[in-house]
Amino acid sequence: MYRKISSLVHPFVLHLRHNYLYTNRMNKMKMELTGIFLCLLFSLNAQTPVYLDETKPIEERVEDALSRMTLEEKVAMCHAQSKFSSPGVPRLGIPENWTTDGPHGIRPEVLWDEWEQAAWTNDSCIAFPALTCLAASWNPEISALYGKSIGEEARYRNKNILLGPGVNIYRSPLNGRNFEYMGEDPYLASRMVVPYIQGVQANGVAACVKHFALNNQEEFRHTVDVKVDDRTLYEIYLPAFKAAVQEGQAWAIMGAYNRYKGEWCCHNQYLLNDILRDEWKFDGVVISDWGGVNDTRQSIYNGLDMEFGTWTDGLSEGVSNAYDNYYLANPFLELLKSGEVKVEEVDKKVRNILRLAFRTTMDTKRPWGSFGTEEHALAGRKIAQEGIVLLQNKNNVLPIDVNQTKKIAVIGENAIKMMTVGGGSSSLKAKYEVSPLEGLRNYVPSNVDVVYARGYVGDTDGSYNGVSSGQDLSESRSAAELTREACEMAKSADVVVFVGGLNKSDYQDCEGHDRKELELPYGQNELITELAKVNSNLVVVIISGNAVAMPWVKDVPAIVEAWYSGTEAGNALASILTGEVNPSGKLPFTFPVRLQDNGAHALGEFPGTAESARYNEGIFVGYRWTDKEKIKPLFPFGHGLSYTTFEYGKVQADKKTMSANDKITFTVTVKNTGSREGAEVVQLYISDKKSSVPRPVKELKGFDKVFLKAGEQKEVSFTIDKSALCFYDVNTKDWVAEPGTFEALIGASAGDIRSKVNFELK
Ligand code: BGC
Repeated sequence: MYRKISSLVHPFVLHLRHNYLYTNRMNKMKMELTGIFLCLLFSLNAQTPVYLDETKPIEERVEDALSRMTLEEKVAMCHAQSKFSSPGVPRLGIPENWTTDGPHGIRPEVLWDEWEQAAWTNDSCIAFPALTCLAASWNPEISALYGKSIGEEARYRNKNILLGPGVNIYRSPLNGRNFEYMGEDPYLASRMVVPYIQGVQANGVAACVKHFALNNQEEFRHTVDVKVDDRTLYEIYLPAFKAAVQEGQAWAIMGAYNRYKGEWCCHNQYLLNDILRDEWKFDGVVISDWGGVNDTRQSIYNGLDMEFGTWTDGLSEGVSNAYDNYYLANPFLELLKSGEVKVEEVDKKVRNILRLAFRTTMDTKRPWGSFGTEEHALAGRKIAQEGIVLLQNKNNVLPIDVNQTKKIAVIGENAIKMMTVGGGSSSLKAKYEVSPLEGLRNYVPSNVDVVYARGYVGDTDGSYNGVSSGQDLSESRSAAELTREACEMAKSADVVVFVGGLNKSDYQDCEGHDRKELELPYGQNELITELAKVNSNLVVVIISGNAVAMPWVKDVPAIVEAWYSGTEAGNALASILTGEVNPSGKLPFTFPVRLQDNGAHALGEFPGTAESARYNEGIFVGYRWTDKEKIKPLFPFGHGLSYTTFEYGKVQADKKTMSANDKITFTVTVKNTGSREGAEVVQLYISDKKSSVPRPVKELKGFDKVFLKAGEQKEVSFTIDKSALCFYDVNTKDWVAEPGTFEALIGASAGDIRSKVNFELK
């Protein structure tokens, strides 16, 4: 009798306990009492349900929970119940799933079935730098810090799925969402995404890697069918996802909006069943992008587990609370009930979802998280400090010597504009955001006069989905008046810091559309040219997530790429400009001189049409294209300067010949030859000297960020195996390294190779 009562009461108690964990973090005593009560129950009750027994392997728990569920409960788990949540199994004490954007901070709460704000007052987060900035750090430890910090924020807010990170490859500098991704190189993106995922998931929060796959443009994103050959798919567009799944052990992945081989990526036989599940053995949850599901049968059979954001009743748009009408809701249930679809189809999905629950919400040992803390803000600042790239520094205009400077003229809208609001789903409600102007004022002594002029008007709106920056950026003066004022101010300053670039408004760095041109918008080129005429101590700071054209590059001595850097943006930038921190970021993508210097654009294949986009440049993306075409970029992939100098020794290989099962190690010394400490990202590229298929001139296969005191020298080693020499063979569907001569190149960027060594593959 007791057993019976106890097994009935048990799930309820567990449910209660979870609620305590959720809602009453501080209420330790109640929890402890619940814990004691539970222990008592466990010890008295030999029949603890297997799914609740944390000592049991997860797969056993999954099967046990599944065996207790009704068909209705199973189907309910496969689709959303609100904008960002999906049901658990209340009867069994299995909690709901709560997702959140992602990837730069925890999105503020929206209403149950609206995109509008829920007007909570406790959901202002720390905004971390955009993922382009993270990638530009070229430092996996910094990525781990990022993942840990944002994971803690998500955990505190009771989210168990973070919608990020994004690793779609930077194919064109016009893609409106490049700022949310990790650049143009599959190796760099792979190395940087893994620690982010591990950091997030250490908090019992699933990283949901997005958008799988081939989502490389915003224009036509809901319809475009990407035509890409298999080799390009495997060599360029998949590696970062594969690393996320196999090395990062990501617990979730998000399908993309676009199509591939005619099928939408959210329910795509090739991508989800063949590659993700069968080849890579992914055992996590496939989540649709919001509104990315378009078909019931395909979503049943083609690898999708959870449907989110469908804004339809299947017939028309805009029905509220239409969750029962989702493709994977009632239509699915009916097919199951009629026997047309076998129960094993829903079971497959529910297994994945239950596994997610045991890894996240039902892991009673997961940490509690923390939110909006100084520690997180400082982590964000550190990430930005490692990601900001010094592109050019003639005449040592930078760092600004604040002791020798009386007046700094700060010009440009981006010196004051809040950038954490806008850009689409990654928009945030930040606890605070330090602007570049404020940052500079924080970092210079009080006797330095920091004056400001707007210079140009870009985007005066500062709101997204009901979150407002609170800034009034309206301006009534003409462009000529603004230029005049800026130039007057610049004339009399010791140094001019122009802060411009792009912003998070439509057709800039923003979800939904792509940029229309490589040029800086809002007449900034003209303004920069005028400023260069009146003051030669000009620093141009670009805030963007994309490359921009710089027709004035020869007239401006110092150029900095400062990205979207979140809460501590201004402080991070100021610490670099004033030299408190020595810049060490390197570009995660190529800055072309002209749009035509990019492969997709040279071939006229971006953005394609609403029906299709042909990736005819193939594997020649980014520097692979400029290398092949012998085009000198404005700034190459991997480029970034420091306030100190580094001298590279000659690279040595530990052997001349390697066999297929062997490894080979390359060693090079790097010396800090300047007078201050700094960090250099040493890069290893591999070149196949002769091949039966076209190969890139060189490909990144290793990098190491080395920190060196003034005068200090270190040895940097890279060990590679055959996998670094391979191409994807479409005939055998396998990776092939052809015997012959290869070259290892050590460089400070893709355009600055310092030393090379040949070796043979037997
Ligand atoms: C975006 C996703 C995002 C989702 C939820 C979609 O529009 O493409 O990246 O996670 O919305 O906000």
